[in-house]
Amino acid sequence: MKRMISILTAMMLVFGLSACAGTESTKVTGNTEPETLESSQMAEGNLQKEAGSVNEEGSVNEEGSGVLVVYFSATGTTKGVAEKIAAVTGADIYEIKAAQEYTAADLNWNDSNSRTTKEQNDPSVRPQIGSEAVSLDGYKTIYIGYPIWWGEEPRIMDTFVESNNFEGITVIPFCTSGGSGIGRSGQNLADNAGSGTWLEGKRLGSGVSEDEIRSWIEGLK
Ligand SMILES: Cc1cc2nc3c(=O)[nH]c(=O)nc-3n(C[C@H](O)[C@H](O)[C@H](O)COP(=O)(O)O)c2cc1C
Repeated sequence: MKRMISILTAMMLVFGLSACAGTESTKVTGNTEPETLESSQMAEGNLQKEAGSVNEEGSVNEEGSGVLVVYFSATGTTKGVAEKIAAVTGADIYEIKAAQEYTAADLNWNDSNSRTTKEQNDPSVRPQIGSEAVSLDGYKTIYIGYPIWWGEEPRIMDTFVESNNFEGITVIPFCTSGGSGIGRSGQNLADNAGSGTWLEGKRLGSGVSEDEIRSWIEGLK
C-alpha cells in the first residue's frame, strides 16, 4: 500500500511538473511570438513609409545645373525664400527634412524643455536627417538656407554640413528669422563643414522679391 502511494505521488509530481512546464512554454510562445512579429512588422512598416515619403518628396535633379539650393524649413518661411532663389538662379533644390519632424510643441521657444530649446542649448546635438542624401558632385555653387533658432542655425544644419564635402564649392548661407540677423550662423556652418569657400551670408525677409534676390546675388560677384 505504502509502495502504491509513493508511486502515485511520484506520478502526480511528474505530471504536475510537465503540466507546469507546458503552461510555461505555451505562455512564452504565445506571448512573445505574436508580439515580436507585430513590433517588427510595425517597425518595418514605419521604415518603408519613411523611405517611401523620402523618395517621393526629395526633389533632387540629378542632371544638375551647377547650382543647388539646400534648405531646412520647419514652418515654411525658408522654403518660400529657397524656392525664389532657385527660380532666379535656375538651381536644383534639396530640402533637408528631419527624420523626426518638428511638432508645434517642439518649436515652442517659450518652453525651456522643448526639443528645440534643448537642441539649441547643446551645440553637440546632431538631429538625424530623414530626406534621401543628396550628392554634391557637379555643383559649383550652393545656397544653404535655414531659420534662425536662438540666434543660430538649427543643429540639423550642422548634421548636414558635417556629412557632406564642400571641396571646390562656393557656399552662400541665407536665413529667415523673426528679426535677428544671420549672426555667427554662417561662420559656424563653415567651421563645422571644414571645406568649401563660404561667403558671408544674409538674412532675407519672407516677402523678399525676385529682384531683390537678383541684386543680392549680383553683389556677391
Ligand atoms: C525655436 C525657435 C527659435 C527662434 N529663435 C529666433 C531668434 O533667435 N531670432 C529671431 O529673429 N527669430 C527666431 N525664431 C523665428 C524664426 O527664425 C522665423 O519664424 C523663421 O522665419 C522660421 O522659418 P521656417 O518657417 O522656415 O521654419 C525662432 C523660431 C523658433 C521655432
